[in-house]
Amino acid sequence: MNVDQTVRTFLDFYRERGHLLISEHSLVPPPGDPVLFTTSGMHPLTPYLSGRPHPRGPRLVNLQRCLRTTDLDEVGDDTHLTVFRMLGSWSLGSYPGVQSLTWGHELIRDGFGIDSDRLHVTVHEDDLESLRTWERIGVPVELTRDENWWSNGPTGPCGPDSEIFVWTGDTPPEGTPTTDPRWVEVWNHVMMRYLRHEDGRLEPVTPERVDTGMGLERMLTILQRKRSVYDTDVFRPWRLDGLWPLDERSQRVVTDHLRSSVVVIGDGVRPSPNGRGYVLRRLVRRVLTRLWRVDPEWTLGDLPTGPIESTIDHFGQPTGVGQVREVLLSEEDRFRRLMTRGRPVVTRRRSRGPLTDDDFRYLHDTYGLPRELVVDLLEER
Ligand code: ALA
Repeated sequence: MNVDQTVRTFLDFYRERGHLLISEHSLVPPPGDPVLFTTSGMHPLTPYLSGRPHPRGPRLVNLQRCLRTTDLDEVGDDTHLTVFRMLGSWSLGSYPGVQSLTWGHELIRDGFGIDSDRLHVTVHEDDLESLRTWERIGVPVELTRDENWWSNGPTGPCGPDSEIFVWTGDTPPEGTPTTDPRWVEVWNHVMMRYLRHEDGRLEPVTPERVDTGMGLERMLTILQRKRSVYDTDVFRPWRLDGLWPLDERSQRVVTDHLRSSVVVIGDGVRPSPNGRGYVLRRLVRRVLTRLWRVDPEWTLGDLPTGPIESTIDHFGQPTGVGQVREVLLSEEDRFRRLMTRGRPVVTRRRSRGPLTDDDFRYLHDTYGLPRELVVDLLEER
């Protein structure tokens, strides 16, 4: 199944069960929202998961781009991406979690053709309804506590969740999701039974809401029998064919961060010293640090327009390729100048011994060198 067929299979399954498609939001949440980026498909639906009726009704489905910086250090492995897409389904009090799990299993088995003997699920230890549902369906269950509770922040809708894992090993399945990493999580069903208040109190929400999210690229890795998300058709335009010969992990980090930067720029963010713009700046700098460790002459100016074009098309963004290239190149230029200015200063300071917090402060206040940049310069050595 290619990416389009996979998306269609998911959306059609829910549409046939009375869910209305809602449109994809930008990565940038609406003004007044305290978070920097949309981190989950449910994010734009927070008020409705808290009880407000949604204008499109109580059964919804969509595909939403998301950005997570919490996983940044894991990017480069087989499954984590900075920008990814989440297929989501929601019941705003229309049906309970038990129904969601039953349909979820049906879609995985009949829609995606994954046999139940390659599945394992995790369930919150107090969530007996989900446990019984999976036992009835016949999928092995691992009970956990902290790992099966989901919330999008310190306050708001939250509840126990049940995660569905698919076996990706070459041998018959063994172990459990928490003991063997070859169990890869593809889908999370959250039983939004509570609202968390500022004082920590949990208020029950009845009837319960259900929020599910499936990582599209991870699911594709499994459906296309690939080793990693980078080997799926989503990344075909990003195979840069020897443009910058790097070790595999760096290649993956460069690909992920560049593609993520393109999507973030496409959603209107520009590099800046704080907030969203700083996340973008860090992504571009992490790319350049990896490239310049191998060859300081490498430049983003050599990046072909194809991958940029296909990415902004894929995400349906209005930004032109020329604009994206301009942002990337001017950020590269800025970073190169900072590195050139900072290198001798940091070297001098470092020759006196390991840098202290005072050194970092001095380098920042006197030379305008942010801590992360100094760390990059130290890593160069
Ligand atoms: N909101 C849930 C998650 O992101 C589905 O895992």
